[in-house]
Amino acid sequence: MTGPTRAFWQERFDTEQTGWDRGGPSPQLNAWLDSGVLQPCRIAVPGCGNGWEVAELAARGFDVTGIDYTEAAVARTRALCAERGFQAHVVQADVLTFQPDAPYDAVYEQTCLCALHPDHWVTYAGQLHTWLKPGGRLHALLMQRVRPEASEQGLIEGPPYHCDINAVRALFPATRWQWTKPPYIKVPHPSLSHELALTLDRL
Ligand SMILES: C[S@@+](CC[C@H](N)C(=O)[O-])C[C@H]1O[C@@H](n2cnc3c(N)ncnc32)[C@H](O)[C@@H]1O
Repeated sequence: MTGPTRAFWQERFDTEQTGWDRGGPSPQLNAWLDSGVLQPCRIAVPGCGNGWEVAELAARGFDVTGIDYTEAAVARTRALCAERGFQAHVVQADVLTFQPDAPYDAVYEQTCLCALHPDHWVTYAGQLHTWLKPGGRLHALLMQRVRPEASEQGLIEGPPYHCDINAVRALFPATRWQWTKPPYIKVPHPSLSHELALTLDRL
């Protein structure tokens, strides 16, 4: 399979090279929650990492499922939820093949797309469409990591792979997803440039 492997991610956790990790839930998740844009529902968090967002959603009454194929991520998310006394489903699975028992009302995608090699983006976008029920909402934080090697020589560098908004537009076409108009919210990241935050409604 092209791109990072499960062993790659496991090693990142084992050696504490988790520069993406904020050490707590994303401020944008809290903003969506506090404003009522995101309300308790059945929600999936693909590529949940250390599980901060899974634990926050569980704390706020969501029926939340964290999905990650790396053993360390699953163990850490389960431990965090158990330590805080929150109920969450935490599934060890590949987001490219995982199929839920029933569709979700929402998906919270935070830097999972940028963790996947672009060869897998079409499959991943198709998965998110399948997971969501019609009218369901995708809350996405898209990592912006422009690399000179990419624009000058066409090299595909990552992770994190730069989630160019034009590519995302093609992956989630307006025939299948309801878009809001730009500009989108810029969410600073302590170690990785910034993310663009937007919501897409599944048609
Ligand atoms: C950059 S980290 C982001 C973690 C978390 N979303 C965050 O923002 O803190 C990417 C996560 O996606 C997971 N991941 C990468 N490819 C995956 C795949 N094909 N299936 C499931 N999980 C995957 C990794 O194990 C890792 O935990």
